[in-house]
Amino acid sequence: MRKKIAAGNWKMNTTVDEGKKLAKDICDMIAKKPLKTINGNPGVIFFTPFVHLIEISKIIDGLDGVYAGAQNCHSKPSGAFTGEVSASMIKSAGITHVLVGHSERRNLFNENNKMLAAKASIAVENDLKIVFCCGELLDERENEKHFDVIRNQLKEGLFWMDERSFSNALIAYEPVWAIGTGVNATPGQAQEMHAFIRKQIAEKYGKKIAENFTILYGGSCNSKNAKQLFKQEDVDGGLIGGASLKAGEFFKIVQSF
Ligand code: 13P
Repeated sequence: MRKKIAAGNWKMNTTVDEGKKLAKDICDMIAKKPLKTINGNPGVIFFTPFVHLIEISKIIDGLDGVYAGAQNCHSKPSGAFTGEVSASMIKSAGITHVLVGHSERRNLFNENNKMLAAKASIAVENDLKIVFCCGELLDERENEKHFDVIRNQLKEGLFWMDERSFSNALIAYEPVWAIGTGVNATPGQAQEMHAFIRKQIAEKYGKKIAENFTILYGGSCNSKNAKQLFKQEDVDGGLIGGASLKAGEFFKIVQSF
């Protein structure tokens, strides 16, 4: 079964106290209106800064369908990598998910598909579920290269996995031109790319796995456009940046399935 997911990527925002309040406010709303009573029975993931994770995992404890995730991990198990955090550390903090390949990691921190494949590999080895992000730049879309770009990001970053590892992955399609710009992909553009991604999965892993695979959309998704986006056949939810930082706004998105 495809899981519906509303995930918040907090990026480098909120102090620990602000983050605790944000998570608590959303969890209070979920406690009053449990996710299983919402159309599609969505799951919720908070991708918070590292230093928040242990506190956030206490807040979500006991709430069905709510998870905490890290925004990054290192590709090596341990060692002299000052400032980095390993997948096993994340797992040992009781965290279940990690983002791999966000476009900000790709473009601002020069993470290439080979590095991302190594990160994805160590994350699944440590029993973390990954949300693997892909997305094209504006000029790539304008030059009609977007399908090639996504095909290649998936092929090099993710499709080396065997079926068992792949079952621990979700994909988020986040066109870079839509991130933080207020210009979301139209529902038609999102559907077109999600259907393309699902087709790539079917060609690699078979139709059954593809049909049951969760593909999220990210990029200026908010409470006003979420319903239309999530209504598309191949859009199974969202990875939300700015709009995940306001409890009421994010909870409206959670209810948009
Ligand atoms: P915005 O929702 O702020 O555009 O960010 C999307 C994103 O990058 C989520 O990972």
